[in-house]
Amino acid sequence: MSRLPADQHHAVRLMLNGKPCSGDAEPRMLLTDFLRHEIGATGTHVGCEHGVCGACTVEIDGKLARACLTLAVQVDGCAVRTVEGLAPAPDRLGLLQAAFKRNHALQCGFCTAGILMSLDHFLREVPKPSEQEVRDLLTGHLCRCTGYTPILRAAMEAAAELAGEPAKEKSDA
Ligand code: FES
Ligand code: FES
Repeated sequence: MSRLPADQHHAVRLMLNGKPCSGDAEPRMLLTDFLRHEIGATGTHVGCEHGVCGACTVEIDGKLARACLTLAVQVDGCAVRTVEGLAPAPDRLGLLQAAFKRNHALQCGFCTAGILMSLDHFLREVPKPSEQEVRDLLTGHLCRCTGYTPILRAAMEAAAELAGEPAKEKSDA
């Protein structure tokens, strides 16, 4: 990767998953590269780098964004949430992640971080979604492995759990 002289770099300070964090970014460095290579937060994946596949989806100041279409310097002073922020502790899965695990909603996992971020955001905005609404959301994400059915099942299960229905048996715990 070519590096510009240090005097052309920018300090980027942000809140990453609730913790202050900073790094050094060239003016045109993408947020995906900044997170993965400068900060070491490799949970955010990179697929198409054209805003199409959804693998790089993160939240910036509470709004979903494609990190491959965002410059690192644009998040200076922002709150950024990535898939690493979904788990309540390093050895525990969040509710949605656990539903993915139960339903085998991932295979290679390439798409998974982005889908989790979109669904997590969506389920906070639409607590009791219809299956069609979840299907519509998933049109913004490409998955080559699962056929989407287990992802849909996991999302509906998580939505039900968030609405107070009892969690399904953790058969693969
Ligand atoms: S890598 Fe960003 S949308 Fe595909
Ligand atoms: S699990 Fe492989 S691309 Fe979705």
